[in-house]
Amino acid sequence: MADLVEMLRAAAKDEHAAVIQYLLHAYAMGEGEEACEIEGIARDEMRHFWMLSRWIVKLQGLPTIERGFTDLGGETKAEWMDRDVQAEERAIAMYRAYISAIENPDLRSDLERILADEERHRGIFVELGEKFRLESSPEEAVTPPTPSPSVLEALEWGIRHEYAAILQYLFHSFLVKDEETSRQLELQAINEMQHMGWLSEKLASLGKPIPIEHHPVDLAREVQAMLRADIKLETETAQKYEDFVGKVQEPAVRELLETLKGHELYHEGLFKRLLERISHLSPSGWTIGSLIKKEEG
Ligand SMILES: [Fe+2]
Ligand SMILES: [Fe+2]
Ligand SMILES: [Fe+2]
Ligand SMILES: [Fe+2]
Repeated sequence: MADLVEMLRAAAKDEHAAVIQYLLHAYAMGEGEEACEIEGIARDEMRHFWMLSRWIVKLQGLPTIERGFTDLGGETKAEWMDRDVQAEERAIAMYRAYISAIENPDLRSDLERILADEERHRGIFVELGEKFRLESSPEEAVTPPTPSPSVLEALEWGIRHEYAAILQYLFHSFLVKDEETSRQLELQAINEMQHMGWLSEKLASLGKPIPIEHHPVDLAREVQAMLRADIKLETETAQKYEDFVGKVQEPAVRELLETLKGHELYHEGLFKRLLERISHLSPSGWTIGSLIKKEEG
């Protein structure tokens, strides 16, 4: 069983890497049909990450937020698509090997579902690559305006923060047994992914690289400690965005930061309500982690 958990953890790290690799490619392309399609694939990978992590918990293992190999090479859109095809091919080979080695029929069926997604993704990346190669006019090099230091600081801080929030809420959602709380945490992680997208598209449009290292993540394993950490993160973030609004001059960035602040305050309130709800629940709201700890103690 330990081997199986390790196999699933390795797959989870690769799914995490795929989410980030594809998002970076989509953000760098700016708005458009292709970027939307790629973001959709990144969301599929996040779902795979979630499915694998729930299995890890079911098998008494601990999910991971480590990221596997992320291929950041390539200069043009077509080259990025080649890298993405290769990532899908690595995943396809891995899942085929897993499916032939794993006996649990429910897990096999989930892995077969994931494998079918990867095969579809591979086809889409191949097509997009061909499309970009055929684009006759080379992408025009427009020199973007030089951003002010405060705009750069706000965008970079925001991206690192949002990445950490995504991982924190996902990790917590993997472990929480209470379905409502788990689902809400997953939904808010998706919302933070949207935030990361808005900030990253803005930064990419200014011709600046998108940071891929996140702020520290609180990996609490007990549900009340999780929600307290999540509330704290939202309170601090709303404050930080407000501070940036005071420093940044550029109207579009200010407006974006105001929107984000509003969402974070909503998250803060939502997590407070969840904490209150969970405090009234019986042990069914506990996480696997807290039960294991109780048995040990
Ligand atoms: Fe995947
Ligand atoms: Fe995929
Ligand atoms: Fe956010
Ligand atoms: Fe938030």
